[in-house]
Amino acid sequence: MFKQWIEKQKIKSKMHKCFRHCKMYHEKKQGDKKIRIYPQIVNIRPLEDRLEVVFILQTGLSTEAIDETIFKQVFGKNIEIKHDKIKKCVLNVYKNGIPKTVNYDFNLIKNHVAKMQIPFICGLDIHGELIIIDLATEAHLLLSAETGGGKSSLLRANITFLIELNGNYELYLMDLKRSEFGMFRNCRNVKGVYITTSDILPTLKKIEKEMKHRGDLLDQHEVNSIDELDIKLKRILVVIDEVALLRKEKEIMSIVEDISSIGRSLGVHLVLSMQRPDSKILESGNLKNNLRVRISGRQSNSMNAKVAGVEGAENIGMNQRGRMLIKLDDIREFQGFYLNSAEAKMILKNYKVKGHVQAEPEQQQEIKSENILGVLDE
Ligand SMILES: Nc1ncnc2c1ncn2[C@@H]1O[C@H](COP(=O)(O)OP(=O)(O)O)[C@@H](O)[C@H]1O
Ligand SMILES: [Mg+2]
Repeated sequence: MFKQWIEKQKIKSKMHKCFRHCKMYHEKKQGDKKIRIYPQIVNIRPLEDRLEVVFILQTGLSTEAIDETIFKQVFGKNIEIKHDKIKKCVLNVYKNGIPKTVNYDFNLIKNHVAKMQIPFICGLDIHGELIIIDLATEAHLLLSAETGGGKSSLLRANITFLIELNGNYELYLMDLKRSEFGMFRNCRNVKGVYITTSDILPTLKKIEKEMKHRGDLLDQHEVNSIDELDIKLKRILVVIDEVALLRKEKEIMSIVEDISSIGRSLGVHLVLSMQRPDSKILESGNLKNNLRVRISGRQSNSMNAKVAGVEGAENIGMNQRGRMLIKLDDIREFQGFYLNSAEAKMILKNYKVKGHVQAEPEQQQEIKSENILGVLDE
C-alpha cells in the first residue's frame, strides 16, 4: 500500500513538472508567497499495458497548452494524450511503444478487410490495432513525407495488397520518376503503369469520360452512387507518385481536381503522394479539401507539416522510417506496413497476367461487363 502511494506521488510530481513547463497553472497569492495551482489529477491507474492518468483543466486553461514534447521528455516517447472538447484529459504511458517495423503480411491483414471494397492499409498503432481505411468511403488520400519517410514503401505494400486481394477494382499507376511502379506491370487488377505526361494525359481523359458515363448512368437510374446500381461497376484507383512533378500540366491537374471533387460517388479514387507538401498544388483550388484523408511521414518543419494537413509530423524522428501520422477525424500515429522491393517482386510473380498466368475466368467476366460500358476499353 505504502509503495503504491509513493509511486503515485512520483507520478504526480512528474505531472506537475509537465504542467509547469507547459505553463498550465494559475498563480494565487497566499500571504507573501505565490502558489501555483495545477490541473487536478483525478485518477492514476496502472493497467496491464499502460499507466493511465486522468486530469482536469481548471477554468481559464485550454487543452491547446498541452505540449506533447514536454510530456514525452518527462514520461518517455510512448505516450498518448487525449482530451474531450472541454476539460478532461487522459495521459496514457504505454509499456511498449509502436514497433519499429511491421512487416507486410497478406494473410494477417486480409482478415481485417472483409467488409471493405478498396482498402488502403496503413500499419499498426500504439494499441496494437491495425489501421486500415476503405477508400470506397474515404474517397481520396494524400500521402506526404520528406525523402526517406516511407512513401514509396507504403504505396508498394498497398498496391501489392490490392493485387493479392484481387477485388472489384482496377489500378492506374502513374509515376514520372519511373522508379517505383515497374514491378506492377502486367499484374492482375493493374490497368497500366504510366511514366510520361503523354501517357498520363490520355489515360486521365479516358477516366474522365468514364466518369461522365457513370454520372449519366446514376442520373438514368436516379441513384446517388455506383453502390446503388444493379451492375457492380469496378472501382478505379489512380495512384500518382510525386504528383508535384505534374504541377505545370494544367490539363492533367484539372482532371485530377475533378476526380477529387466528384470521383467518390462514381467509384473513382485518388491516392497522391508528394515529397514536400506543395502549397501551390494543394492550396489553389479544392484539391486539399477534397483529399480528406492525409497521411504524413516525417516533415522537415512544422510549416510543411501544416501544409500536409497533419500537424505534429515534424516531430517524427529522422531515423523513424515508415513512422507516420494519419488524419481522419483525429490524428493517429502508426508504423507503416513494410514490404521491400525484392519480396514484392517475389509475390507479384504469381499474379502476372500476360506471359505468366492466364486471366482467370472470373476476371474475364469482369472485363466483359466493363465492355458493356465500353468507355475505358475503347
Ligand atoms: N514502414 C517501414 N518500415 C521500416 N523501414 C522503412 C519503412 N518504410 C521505409 N523504410 C526504409 O526507408 C527507406 C526509404 O523509404 P521510401 O519508401 O523509399 O521513402 P520515400 O519514398 O518517402 O522517399 C526504405 O528503403 C526502407 O529502408
Ligand atoms: Mg519515394
